[in-house]
Amino acid sequence: MQQTFYDFSAFDLLKDKKPLLVCDRVFDSFEIEFPGEAVRFSAFTSNPIYEDVMAGVEVLRENECDFIVAVGGGSSIDTAKSIKYYSRLDLPIMAVPTTSGTGSEATHFAVIYRDGKKLSVAGDHLLPEYVILQAELLKTLPLYQKKCTMLDALCQAIESWWSKRASEESIRYSKEAIRLILGHMESYLRNEAEGNAKMLLAANFAGKAINITTTTAPHAMSYKLTSLYRLPHGHAVAICLPKVWRYMGNFDDIAHALGKRNHEEAISFFEDLLQKLEIRPPQDVNADDVEVLTDSVDPERLSNNPMQPDRETIRSLYKEILGV
Ligand SMILES: [Fe+2]
Repeated sequence: MQQTFYDFSAFDLLKDKKPLLVCDRVFDSFEIEFPGEAVRFSAFTSNPIYEDVMAGVEVLRENECDFIVAVGGGSSIDTAKSIKYYSRLDLPIMAVPTTSGTGSEATHFAVIYRDGKKLSVAGDHLLPEYVILQAELLKTLPLYQKKCTMLDALCQAIESWWSKRASEESIRYSKEAIRLILGHMESYLRNEAEGNAKMLLAANFAGKAINITTTTAPHAMSYKLTSLYRLPHGHAVAICLPKVWRYMGNFDDIAHALGKRNHEEAISFFEDLLQKLEIRPPQDVNADDVEVLTDSVDPERLSNNPMQPDRETIRSLYKEILGV
């Protein structure tokens, strides 16, 4: 079971504990005070790699930490979960998201990279026991990162909805996430407290949705875009989603939740949104990239997609995504 807090009172749980604090460099700007001693681990990048995680496991073991606190975006939280996974230790995780995107605080899996390939770790014990949703932490996030994380949440809500594993409960979470994103996007992009609070909640709902269903083709197709072009996760997923949706058609119920009459209108809305937010395909595309990308797609991931694109379809989708 997970417990959610909306302030830092949850830090009382850290008294007499020796937490491993998994955070990025932005942490210092938050002036967060821990009640006791914490062992800091920040030696990981925005798309964390296996080697970084193993270094974190070493730090955890050497210092005999008995708690993991992750403060940051999806990278920090996924690194924290992966450290727990590979340490094989049973210790609680407290997740404090500082971006409103991945919803990683609400899922039982994590994504890291090994040799440029996506590596998933999963297990019920990876769902953080404690979550702090504190919108103040979003205030220092750069605008581009805010756009990318919001788009990740929106894509997760949509993909979860059309996933083969969607349930009544997961669709309820998707709907709520979409409602909050559309209703508070402007305020959030203006960096207002209300918009930030609602977007943090939206991301959490989208996380709860994919915790049930996992993600689908746009996410599966995004991972190599991220490692090849160093695109932030949300950016990479968002440029895939409208192309995949157009190939699949249908899902007018999702279009209605987006305030549109049918999927064509919803896809146009999504593409216009990307234009407006200046989220574009990468520029530095090589001739053989389409083949590299096509080879990268994990068919396992696609079994969850409502339609099974074959290799030729994936190739042509990548061409459309990259505009080549
Ligand atoms: Fe995502």
